[in-house]
Order: sequence, then C-alpha cells, then structure tokens
Amino acid sequence: MASNNRGAESPILSWRNLNYDVKTKRHGVRRILHDISGDIYPGELVAIMGSSGAGKTTLLNVLAGRVQGGRLCGDIKFNGATRVPHTFKRMLAFVEQDDLMFSLLSVEETLLASAQLRLSNERYADSDKRSRVETVLRQLRLTHVKDTKIGGYGMRGVSGGERKRVSIGMELVTDPSILVLDEPSSGLDSSSAEMVVELTKEMARQRNLCTLMTIHQPSAEMVAKFDKLILLSQGKLVYMGPASQALSYFENQGYPSTNSNPANFFIDLMTVDFASDEAMRKSEQRVQALVDYFANYRKRCTIENDQNTHQHTQLSSHKSIASTLATSRIMPQQQSVALDYSPSKGSHGSMYDGCSEKRAAAADTNYAYITNDITNEVAGMTCYEAPPMNGWLGETRILLKRDWILSTRNMSLVYGIIGECVVNLLFLGFVFFQLGKDQPSVQNRIGALFSLTVQCTFPVIIPVMTVIMTSRDVLMRERSGGTYRMTSYFFAKSLSFFPLVIVPYVFMYTGAYLISHLQYDAAKFFIGLANLAAILFASLGFSFAMSMAVRSLEVAHIITPVSLGTLMLFAGNMANAKAITPVLRWLKYVCIYYYAYSGFVQNEFGGLEFTCSPEAAICYRTGEDVLNTYGLNELSIGQCILLNIVLGAVFYAMAYCLLRWKAKPRYLWL
Ligand SMILES: Nc1ncnc2c1ncn2[C@@H]1O[C@H](COP(=O)(O)OP(=O)(O)OP(=O)(O)O)[C@@H](O)[C@H]1O
Ligand SMILES: [Mg+2]
Repeated sequence: MASNNRGAESPILSWRNLNYDVKTKRHGVRRILHDISGDIYPGELVAIMGSSGAGKTTLLNVLAGRVQGGRLCGDIKFNGATRVPHTFKRMLAFVEQDDLMFSLLSVEETLLASAQLRLSNERYADSDKRSRVETVLRQLRLTHVKDTKIGGYGMRGVSGGERKRVSIGMELVTDPSILVLDEPSSGLDSSSAEMVVELTKEMARQRNLCTLMTIHQPSAEMVAKFDKLILLSQGKLVYMGPASQALSYFENQGYPSTNSNPANFFIDLMTVDFASDEAMRKSEQRVQALVDYFANYRKRCTIENDQNTHQHTQLSSHKSIASTLATSRIMPQQQSVALDYSPSKGSHGSMYDGCSEKRAAAADTNYAYITNDITNEVAGMTCYEAPPMNGWLGETRILLKRDWILSTRNMSLVYGIIGECVVNLLFLGFVFFQLGKDQPSVQNRIGALFSLTVQCTFPVIIPVMTVIMTSRDVLMRERSGGTYRMTSYFFAKSLSFFPLVIVPYVFMYTGAYLISHLQYDAAKFFIGLANLAAILFASLGFSFAMSMAVRSLEVAHIITPVSLGTLMLFAGNMANAKAITPVLRWLKYVCIYYYAYSGFVQNEFGGLEFTCSPEAAICYRTGEDVLNTYGLNELSIGQCILLNIVLGAVFYAMAYCLLRWKAKPRYLWL
C-alpha cells in the first residue's frame, strides 16, 4: 500500500477497464460491467446513477473490494498503488443499503462503539473519541435521539431516516479516506434524502473525503450537490464527468433535457424500453450510441489532454495538468474554467470544460467556510495509511462491554433462561422430592441427574445460538471493515454469555440439590457445581460452533436438536456406556452428556449405601454397585470435568476456524 501523499492532484482511487462477468444458469456467462474506467479525488462527492439493474451496486462493490463470485478483471489503484486488502478495508467506510446495527443499542452507544473500536488509541484518547461522537451526532442532527434505541423487528426505535443517518455516522466517526454509500436515500422522504446527501457532501468537504454513492432518482437539488456523475446503462458507461455539465453534454448530442429533474431525464435516456420489440430496439440503439459516443469522446479527451500536458509542462511545470473528462477533478466550491476543447464547438461550447479543466491551486481556500472540530483536525489532509489496530485487550474490553449490554437488554434471553431455571428447579425438586436410601431412590437419583444434565444443554444452546446467528450479519459487516480481531469477538461474546447462564443455573442446581436431598456434603456440592460449570461451558462452545457451521437459522434449529438428541444416546443413561456397539462406542468420548452425567452420578452415588427390601428382585447395596452396573466409573470425576472443558475449548476452536475460513466472504480483489 502506498503510504506517500502524492498531493491533492492525484486521484485517491482510480480504476481502468473493469469487466465483471457472472455465470448464470440460463444465459451462461453474463457481463455485468463493461470496460469501466474512472478516477475520484479527495473531497469529491460522486454519484453513480442508472436505472435498476444498470450495475451501480456492482460497480460500488467492485471498487470497495466487496464483490463475491464471478470473474473480475481490470485494474484498481488506491493512491496510485495496488490495494492491500487488509489496509484498504480499514481505510474505506462502507454504508450498506441495509442498515445492519444492533437494535438494542442506543444511537450514542452505537456510534461510540464504532469510534472506540475503529479509531486508533495511539492517536485518540477516549475523551477525543467521545467528543467526535458528539460532533457527529450534532452534524447528523441526531443529538435529540442519542438515547433512543436503534430498534428493529418488533421493537420501535429511531425513524428510518435517523437510522440511515446512524449508519452513516458509524462510518463518519472513524477516519476513512473513502466513503462509499449504497442507496443512502432509499426508503427516505425527499427532504430526508436531501439532508443525507447534503450532510455527506459537507463531510466530504470538511475531511477531504472521497465519497462515492449510488442513488436512485435524486431531486434536481440533490443532483446539483454532486461534483461528479457516473451514469451507467446495462453495465456500460454513458457519462462520467462533472455533474454541472452532464445536461449540456447530452444536449450537445441532440438530447436536450425534457424533464425539470435532470436525474429523471438521465434515467429516461439510459433506460431500455421493453414495452414492445420496436421500442426495445430503438432504446437499445440509443443507449449504445450514447455509450459509443462517450467512449470516443473520452479517447479524444485523452489525446487532447496529452497535448495540453505537454504544452502546459513547458509553460509551467509546477501547475497542475489538465485531465480528461473522465478523470477530471472537481475541486470543492470551484467554478470550472472553460477551456479550449469542445468536440463540436457548437453553441454549447463550454460544456466540455471538464475535458481539460484547469484546476486552481488555491482551491483549498474554499474549505475555509467550514469551521468545526473535524475540519480543524483533518481538513485538507488525506490519510493514505491505515491507522494501527488497537491492542487485543482494549478491543476485547470494548466488545465485552457492548456484548454485555446487548445480552442483558435481551429480555427474551434473560427471562427465558431465568424462567426455564425456575421451572426446572420446581419440577426437578418436587418430582424427585427428598430422596431416601431405598431402591426406588436409585432410579430417581439417576433420573434427576440425567434430567439435570439434559437441562444444561438444550435450553442454553438453542437460545444462545439464535442470538449469535441473528447478529451474524453485523459481525460480517464489522469483519469486512476490519473493525476487530475475531479472537476478541469470540472471547468477548462468550464471556458476556457465561454469567448470564451460570448464575441462574447455580441457583437451579442449589435449589434442586436441597429439595431432592442429594448427598449433603460441602465437597460434593462444590464438585457438582464445577461439573455444572464445565457442561455449561461446553454447551456455549457447542452453540458457537453450530452458529458458525450452519448459515440458516431454520436449518440450525433442526440440526441442533437432532444432533443433541443423538449425542444423548451416548450419555450412559439410555445405552450402557460399556456395552454400546463397539464401532460407535468412541462417540461417548466426544459427548458432553457422557462426561457431565458420569461426573454427576459418580459424585452423588460415591459412598452411598442403600437398603434392600426382601421382596426386591434386584438390589443395589452401594452406590458403587450402581456405577459398576451403568458403566459410569470409567473416568474419574476430575477427568470428566476436565474433558468437558477440553470439549468446550475444541468447540470454540472449531467455531473460530469456521468463522475464519468457511464463513469468510471470498471477495475478488484487483
Ligand atoms: N452475482 C450475480 N449473479 C448474477 N447476476 C448478477 C450478479 N450480480 C449482479 N447481477 C446482475 O447484474 C445486474 C446489475 O446488478 P446491480 O445490483 O449492480 O444493479 P443496480 O444498478 O444496483 O440495481 P438497483 O438499482 O436495482 O439496485 C442485475 O441485472 C443483477 O441481476
Ligand atoms: Mg443496487
């Protein structure tokens, strides 16, 4: 990655001859982007427009390094050098069309977490990050809703426009070089949409940010705010150049504007009409003519530009060179200067000013009208180096805090686990009430301990898995932006669930222990608790592994009970642990039920003596007799606890590997 600042005249991002193909079942290989080239400069606000299916999102994703599948060729340079994925993704802020955020966090918490995780601790103190959040809240007009929850499905939160501004804010609290927005105005009313564009423009100016957005049907006022337009039709470039000159460009080709809104006029011009064969043929011809015209025009511009460069260099080597229409830089607040080249030299002669536009070196003074914190910090500077990543511990601490807030605010999870523990405590305690030392108590003890073991799995694994899977989109978004390390994510997430699960379960275990009158012995009580903690740890690990292994929540809700039900067969309760079919016997060693159940049973039966009535056909005299019969004394209690912890760790490791390699998006890079 280039680290040198090449000065304000260099494009921050340039792309040449981008072609993107996908394979479709019906049509074979289909080209989505055709030979797209262009550049963007710091401080520019660029809009990609075109009718639906024109390839806007695809182009945006290609430039952002977020396209998956298919075949991509061409060349993309960031600050004149090949992009390095790890650094580039941390210098790019991507506002996706779907606002993926945690519904349970407030607006301020959302922005603060983004700032704390993504701004470098070396450069910013915590107070700086907080004040930046305040500034962004103010700039995005979100101060009045800063304590409101984001909200989501089934939960009222901020409005759609506010939500969109929060997702923009999450990116703006960081220090990106490039801001990319996919349809930032979709679903918003016209004034909110205009506000979003206005704010984005303001930010682009203040921070010298290069901003690229796709937009549907902007109003005339919005079009006027853009510095540069990229017009696409069927994946081909129809125009790329100054927004202010787009209308005259088309007028010069014999297409005067027929609509008061230029955006509608452009879309009408570029859309293929499928109403009839004749209409389709005509519109396709028109679009192809526009595409060809632009390609030719660009070639002529390049030649002209080269000549200008030569003369200009001779005249004044220190001044900026003229650039092509496609690569022209629109300096903020700068009036374009009419130059000598116009393809037709007609009445609209000035429309191709951008073809060889002179850029005033004094353009920087145009930033002067903006005065606020961010401007003072970064205006005029463009950072080409990714900030250093924050330390593991600090990162994990911030994630832990966020995850803890999320877990404790998730009332269905909290009340679900507490409620389930209370119900189990009552049923376990009173079904197996005050167990004695007779023969039926042997069966009851076995039943109580097996039931306890099972209760430590299903009611933990399924809700936790659901919570992880429903927030996986946010994880993927944050991961794509290189927000934190995956190890920090795992550590923080698991740690945030553990107290939430262990506390109600200790309460349940203690209650059931006392009511059922298991062996009253302090050592046995605490050994039982350790065994309980080990299976809960393993259960949490299992839910993480399942969440990462299966993509769909519905499928996970089928696979999980089935696999747990199958594993239950090897616990040593339904099938004798020593007499399972030899070929399947090894499965008990990867069975969390086996270790937990064996631990509980040995702990309870060890040292117990039972009474035998004369009429009993089978009589267990001691707890050891029971253990021998069930084959549950192969491993010691300590080994059982340890092996469940090891199994839990293996599940976590599996989840980590799955996330790192299987769930990892395979982006195409140029
Ligand atoms: N991976 C893919 N496989 C098959 N077709 C694809 C793929 N990606 C994009 N396309 C097709 O490419 C075309 C352009 O898609 P894209 O999403 O870029 O359009 P768009 O201009 O953003 O449209 P909209 O305005 O509706 O969002 C569409 O016809 C789409 O179906
Ligand atoms: Mg799109």
